[in-house]
Amino acid sequence: MAKKSAAATPGNVAAMPVDDVAQPNFKIEYREIQAFGTLKNLPLGIEDNVRSSSVEALNQVLADTMTLRDLYKKHHWQMSGATFYQLHLLLDKHYEAQAELVDSIAERIMTLGGLSVAMAADVAELSRVPRPPKGREDTPSQLARLLEAHEMILRYARDAAEEAADAGDSGTDDLLISEVVRTNEMQVWFIAEHLAETSLTRGEG
Ligand SMILES: [Fe+2]
Repeated sequence: MAKKSAAATPGNVAAMPVDDVAQPNFKIEYREIQAFGTLKNLPLGIEDNVRSSSVEALNQVLADTMTLRDLYKKHHWQMSGATFYQLHLLLDKHYEAQAELVDSIAERIMTLGGLSVAMAADVAELSRVPRPPKGREDTPSQLARLLEAHEMILRYARDAAEEAADAGDSGTDDLLISEVVRTNEMQVWFIAEHLAETSLTRGEG
């Protein structure tokens, strides 16, 4: 039974006894309950080897998507030049869509019984997207760098979707095509159009 707290009078706040039931116990010994790279057994009707392949592929897409998401924020902040305002806004819109993809992919991995990669250092180890400089790049470089990451993700996601479909994991196939591929394709269009040489008006003579 918990000890009775010492009576507090106005101007005299008494410390709660450490074993009082209302006292949160935050001196916890951290305990890992599932190792990264292991699969929980779930009644999904999908073979373990199929779930394992899907989890591995989805973690690659996840790490690359988290990197692209952060690349969008970097360029949203570091944009410069005459098109600053429109690109500043557009890149943040794309960032939001990539952040939603991150959550969908990560939760698909958990749904399959796996563990999604989560923290920046682990993502950096896994991602294939080239690391940009800490400094600011000019606008064409920023846009080209985003397109490079999009293409890597698109190529990988289409192949992974096909493998998942062939193996009977249609849920993963659907996520990769309906969400990852479709979103990335649309964003490629919006970014790539900014790199066309056309201008608003034709110069005279
Ligand atoms: Fe912002």
